[in-house]
Amino acid sequence: MHAYRAAILRFATDGGPHRSAVYEEDGLLVIGPGANGVQVVHAVGPYRDLVGRFPGIAVEHLPGRILAPGFVDLHLHYPQTDVIGSPAEGLLPWLENYTFPEEKRFAALDHSSQAATFFIAELLRNGVTTALTFATSHPASVNALFGEAQKHKLRLITGKVLQDRHSPDGVRDDTEQSLTDTEALIRQWHGKDRLGYAITPRFAPSCSEAQLRGAGELAARYPDVWIQSHVAENRDEVAWVRQLFPAARSYLSVYDDFGLMRERAVYAHCIHFDDADRALMRDTGTAAAVSPTSNLFLGSGFFDYAGADRAGFRYGLASDVGGGTSFSPFHTMLAAYYVGRASVEQGGQLRPGLSLNPQHLWWQHTAGAAQALGLAGVVGNLQPGCEADFIVLNPQATPLLARRTARANSLDELLFAMIVLGDDRLVEKTVIAAS
Ligand code: GUN
Ligand code: ZN
Repeated sequence: MHAYRAAILRFATDGGPHRSAVYEEDGLLVIGPGANGVQVVHAVGPYRDLVGRFPGIAVEHLPGRILAPGFVDLHLHYPQTDVIGSPAEGLLPWLENYTFPEEKRFAALDHSSQAATFFIAELLRNGVTTALTFATSHPASVNALFGEAQKHKLRLITGKVLQDRHSPDGVRDDTEQSLTDTEALIRQWHGKDRLGYAITPRFAPSCSEAQLRGAGELAARYPDVWIQSHVAENRDEVAWVRQLFPAARSYLSVYDDFGLMRERAVYAHCIHFDDADRALMRDTGTAAAVSPTSNLFLGSGFFDYAGADRAGFRYGLASDVGGGTSFSPFHTMLAAYYVGRASVEQGGQLRPGLSLNPQHLWWQHTAGAAQALGLAGVVGNLQPGCEADFIVLNPQATPLLARRTARANSLDELLFAMIVLGDDRLVEKTVIAAS
């Protein structure tokens, strides 16, 4: 066992106020071996209260630093790293002109492997220690990323993209083969070390009914496997789904009709929803991956935080690289704040803007995102029993951060200063539980 002495940020669990942070100015984080060689948090709290309970323990003292849970990115695309910043009129031309041509390259294992190496290094540089990411439709892209994540002992969830229609040659897959490949990849990778598999229909327009049905059957056969897709991101996309699935009540209900909504299902965007959709999210235990930099960049719209909280469904934050513009959770949290602020015309009424609390923003990218994945108490927090994936923040990292954080008079002010001014420079070190 060993310990770190520094300021410590974590999140309340049972008994504490929901989504609120616990902050120790002078804390001790004690970690040691848990199951399967993964390091876990043994104890955490004020230094003066805890240190006497661990006589002789090696303590690494990090004055002026803040330890915080590693960030959880609920949705992104590792093959789209080189697509970041490609402007388009909207989602559908962006897919056609930039994304599909780029994803074709991942048929080759060597291309996938070098992209996976860069991607994982970039996650770690930005303090992201758990990710739910799309691969491409090529099994090689999945094998490359799992292989690389395994080397780093990272908790990572990915899957082969299913897209057997409305997709160009080179990324379109075959219905039967795509389902056979998915099952083989589940058996090969799911639950191995810290890796998890996600059944990954790209979105309803790119999947035939037979493919969606097959995906739903696999989801029933492997209940602890994840499901990831996109829904209700863009108005043209929503209209297209209405044409393709005229019998469905809504875009979201297409997925429900095929057995693709349940715990461990995570849908990106969830913007153009009505209250029946929100209730369906809640009742099925499905989670939304809120992707604010992507939604602002592609002009998709604004996630309705008040609507989500009124219904009470799960959500967390996501970079959605490469529709999203940054790997940095600080940039994503700031964009989420802007999205909350926006007052939006909805159904002829003005939906007023909110000022999201910084503890709530941070929670959405850590403990809240972990809860959305069904991994509460496993990652995204630094409570006893959690896997010890954490980051070391240096609030002196830039002259402006140093000046502004020195003037913070409360935890909210400190967190807000880091959200607004922070980026990868704030993350001095990323520590993975197994290393
Ligand atoms: N919908 C279907 N595919 C994609 C994708 O790659 N990115 C985004 N943002 N939306 C999608
Ligand atoms: Zn996406």
